[in-house]
Amino acid sequence: MKQNLGLFDIDAIYPGNALKLMPGIPDGVINLIVTDPPFAIDFKAQRENYNRTGSHVMEGYQEIPEAHYRKFTRRWMTEAARVLAPEGSMYVFSGWNRLKDILEGLDSSGFTTINHLIWKYQFGVFTKKKYVTSHYHILFVVKNPACYTFNKIDHYPEDVWVINREYWKGKKKTPTKLPSEIIKKILMYSSNPGDLIFDPFLGSGTVAVGAKTEGRHFLGFEIVPEYFTFANERLSGTFTKNRP
Ligand SMILES: C[S@@+](CC[C@H](N)C(=O)[O-])C[C@H]1O[C@@H](n2cnc3c(N)ncnc32)[C@H](O)[C@@H]1O
Repeated sequence: MKQNLGLFDIDAIYPGNALKLMPGIPDGVINLIVTDPPFAIDFKAQRENYNRTGSHVMEGYQEIPEAHYRKFTRRWMTEAARVLAPEGSMYVFSGWNRLKDILEGLDSSGFTTINHLIWKYQFGVFTKKKYVTSHYHILFVVKNPACYTFNKIDHYPEDVWVINREYWKGKKKTPTKLPSEIIKKILMYSSNPGDLIFDPFLGSGTVAVGAKTEGRHFLGFEIVPEYFTFANERLSGTFTKNRP
């Protein structure tokens, strides 16, 4: 691939703060952004809910203070709009609690929403006086609604996706890993082999690993050094299909 990525190499991931690193990416070079940004909740207090024993969950998850979340969201989304190619698309995962900031950020960064997808998963925490949350929002947005990639794999591609979370029983993991199946589905619909896929908030690197597996190029950032190392370990154990 001949693309010039400025300060960065193609098919590489970098440790550090996405807000500081993203300005080093040239304009319009990314075909697809898939990202699950940090939340603005007291995640550590909820950690036991995500893994009963907690023993294999890697410490250090970086959340954003609630008061800063709106500004943080606008900052990274403005950069996302800049680095995306004119026909590029983005998928942003969000829980319901900060959805308002995510939707506002997308609008104010000039994106057009194509679909508001719901990901229904099988997992829920025990609740006493409210419903169990078992869904996520995924915003599918583009820069130009007249021109973007959409490979219509299914005849009726529905906007509710029922996909189980993966349990990595007894294995090292980060607390918020997305299922590989969901990333593969997004890559198949909204990118082609050889495209460049970017995730500014890699966590365990599921987006980069999926891109590599499916013959796409990748770039990504992660602020927690241990997660970055873990993502790199996963990537080095991943084989890629031939890329154009
Ligand atoms: C929800 S997780 C991503 C999970 C990922 N999709 C996966 O499957 O493992 C968000 C990640 O963003 C990281 N993060 C938080 N603030 C960041 C920043 N400013 N720059 C880069 N990464 C950041 C967190 O440490 C966390 O690993």
